[in-house]
Amino acid sequence: MHVARLPVEDDFEAWRGAARDLALAGIPAEAVIWQIGAQREDLFGGETAETRPAVQSFSVPRPFLDLARSVVCHVDRERFALLYTMLLRVRDQPGLIEDRTDPLLRRLEIMAKEVRRDIHKMRAFLRFREIEGERGARFVAWFEPTHHIVRANAAFFVNRFASMRWSILTPDVSLHWDGERLREGPGAARADAPEGDPVEETWKTYYASIFNPARVKIGTMLKEMPRRYWKNMPETALVPGLIAGAQARETAMVAASRVERGGNAVAAWDALREEALECTRCPLFKDATQTVFGEGPIDAALMFVGEQPGDQEDLAGRPFVGPAGQMFDRAMEEAGLDRARVYVTNAVKHFKYEQRGKRRIHAKPNAGEIQACRWWIEQERDLVRPKVVVALGATAARSVFGKAVTITNVRGRAHPLTDGAEAWVTIHPSFLLRIQDRGEADAEYDRFVADLRQVQARVAALV
Ligand code: URA
Repeated sequence: MHVARLPVEDDFEAWRGAARDLALAGIPAEAVIWQIGAQREDLFGGETAETRPAVQSFSVPRPFLDLARSVVCHVDRERFALLYTMLLRVRDQPGLIEDRTDPLLRRLEIMAKEVRRDIHKMRAFLRFREIEGERGARFVAWFEPTHHIVRANAAFFVNRFASMRWSILTPDVSLHWDGERLREGPGAARADAPEGDPVEETWKTYYASIFNPARVKIGTMLKEMPRRYWKNMPETALVPGLIAGAQARETAMVAASRVERGGNAVAAWDALREEALECTRCPLFKDATQTVFGEGPIDAALMFVGEQPGDQEDLAGRPFVGPAGQMFDRAMEEAGLDRARVYVTNAVKHFKYEQRGKRRIHAKPNAGEIQACRWWIEQERDLVRPKVVVALGATAARSVFGKAVTITNVRGRAHPLTDGAEAWVTIHPSFLLRIQDRGEADAEYDRFVADLRQVQARVAALV
């Protein structure tokens, strides 16, 4: 037996190093015991020299490493062993990482999703309480995560609340930021964090005005915002992002009602969007102008998923603003749906095209690109938690279900999703633009509107 001892619960690099050495030495999964605590052990202590790695390296698909990075934070004690088993399998058979039917891969993906959800919960619901210390105001928050996600979230809180001095206390570990350095401390008890919330009211008012562009323009808000908030309020860190994304946000209509779900939900979505702007998870980012992220109220009960941004969306940085978007808007209006109240996103966030002379011709995203981009849409779904998700066309359906489906087989009825939402499938509006025959185009348009009406009725019944 080989004992692999990792220093802390969520140490991905330590797991990766140990797993690599064990794999190189040809150690099977059932011959390894994974333990937490103290120093990393000599994995081959007591073994003969032949068990030490002879080959120096091997590679595994990047999606596996991304998956492992999340799964390592899960509370399941078997996670390291499960990951090591999967590592050996994808090393020998890299295509396995795309096999949605593989039970172990499914299990690991569910674990990764639970971790991601927990990460977002912490971002959305952690609330700082202000306390007066010897060196002025300090902010302290108590949070009890389900998984080992505190370190994974540290960079988010440092970036968001860089100008404050804060501590985040959790049962396993505490984080302390003094404005310059992040320090880690032992776990704490709820009683160590102050009660009450002097920040809360200001926080809510601030969010209610800042994120409802129908009520206040960002420029006006910036002028009117009392300076003292600029210094202290955590949300101040959002301002550069707000200005940059002002146009998207005007349409986004992040309504005041979202505040009910915790002011940080907006910050979590904002951070997700910012992260997605840097996405390099598949090669499509290389030729596209920018990431086109979803937009709409984060508490929308209805989410539409398109295929990918087109030429105009790629330039504008917003989904469904080109010809297909206009068709979509028209049909939604006819079905009695208000675009400002739904969340609209795409399965793939970068424009894929072929250059033909001066024209950029749409190219269909492949299974790998759709899979890579599920990383974002799943997190959008986790944050928005829509009751109904509508897939527009086959690519969107593949993304929502995680497997290929035939539109005609699934159209027109509800399909339960694992998160409690239900999925509906209809055609993509660009399909309507391609139909040459006028009569046929009109009939298909009517069917599309009828689908949207059905969805609208369903949402009304569910909320
Ligand atoms: N088609 C899509 O699927 N999405 C867009 O954003 C635009 C066109």
